[in-house]
Amino acid sequence: MKILITGGAGFIGSNFIFKQLRETHNSIINFDNMTYAGDISKFISIENNKNYTFITGDICNREVVAKTFTDFKPDSIIHFAAETHVDRSIEGPADFINTNIVGTSILLEESLKYYRQIDDEKRINFTFLHVSTDEVFGELSETGKFNEKTPYNPSSPYSASKASSDHLVRAWHKTFGLPVLITNCSNNYGPYQFPEKLIPLMIINAISNKALPVYGRGLNIRDWLFVEDHCDAIYKVLQEGKIGETYNIGGDCEKTNLEIVETICEILDDIKPNPNRKTYKDQITFVKDRPGHDFRYAMEITKITHTLGWQPLESFETGILKTINWYLDNQEWVKRIVSGEYVNWITQNYDNRK
Ligand code: NAD
Ligand code: DAU
Repeated sequence: MKILITGGAGFIGSNFIFKQLRETHNSIINFDNMTYAGDISKFISIENNKNYTFITGDICNREVVAKTFTDFKPDSIIHFAAETHVDRSIEGPADFINTNIVGTSILLEESLKYYRQIDDEKRINFTFLHVSTDEVFGELSETGKFNEKTPYNPSSPYSASKASSDHLVRAWHKTFGLPVLITNCSNNYGPYQFPEKLIPLMIINAISNKALPVYGRGLNIRDWLFVEDHCDAIYKVLQEGKIGETYNIGGDCEKTNLEIVETICEILDDIKPNPNRKTYKDQITFVKDRPGHDFRYAMEITKITHTLGWQPLESFETGILKTINWYLDNQEWVKRIVSGEYVNWITQNYDNRK
């Protein structure tokens, strides 16, 4: 199978690509415009792999998208490309609206043109899989979980833009017959996550002797999933999902943010003790809360487990240890990706919160 991946230079897309090249004979076309979150230096080891091709391209650029379909004739497409950081969407929503909504609509239009041109055999198997988030459902209080029928109620510009993109994908199925699948997943963690997101930020700040900024009182809850489990779920849905349907993906692993940060500190105290302090927990700093901060997310995953037989394999205890060790071993990668534009943004953002 030849799979066109958008946003493959980012966190989940790159984990998906590495896993595909390790475990399947599929060929991958990675289409990414390399925003601050994109990094291709990590692909050096697969540069000469005949099953891997990188195209620099923006999903908002219709001509480049169309040419990629013509040149590569993919069997399916998995759409990861997005602006993904909630805090950035609050500081500046425009890029989110552009990439996540306008970009997705262009990709859908060009996919439909392509789908209508290909031969019958290829058309029967063609699928547009849209990768989305649990944040489209809004927030939960102490009880209950999101399922595939939960009404959309997004809170941030990020989640509103992802909700819009989900609606567009469904519209292209219902109105034009494009064969689509949608996955909505909870919070991912693991190697190659950009260190603006909670888990990598806390690891990097802890070992750099910086403050660990916990928003509000740290009581907000997220449902955590190791990234490779998410990649397996996406591939399972691509292969066996029912066209037109949505699948919720989650880790069945609810934790408060404070629990996460304290766990990271405890593991670091054990494997990389800080010579200057008793514990990394001393670096925890409670800062101003995120505006519109969703209280709790939790995913009901019965549909995907019962109908497709997927379930998370990594426990949080093993997954977080692997992730911490990965960041300790890959500090050069971190230095590389946080240099440049990102540094200015984080400095400004953190100053705003103090
Ligand atoms: P990321 O921010 O790490 O990577 C996004 C990638 O998309 C980057 O490589 C970037 O260069 C690329 N990109 C951005 N705008 C583009 C454009 N206009 N054209 C082409 N490429 C563009 O994101 P991620 O965390 O890997 O998330 C991937 C997808 O999964 C997103 O759609 C996100 O909404 C969804 N998702 C993420 C999580 C999570 O916890 N990270 C959970 C559920 C769903
Ligand atoms: O739920 C899925 C979503 O998870 C994805 O769709 C998003 O793309 C992804 O960024 C993530 O969104 P969150 O807002 O949940 O992730 P983030 O890592 O930014 O924050 C996780 C929680 O930690 C959230 O409650 C805010 C809090 N937080 C975050 C940061 C960066 C802090 O307390 N301090 C911080 O410095």
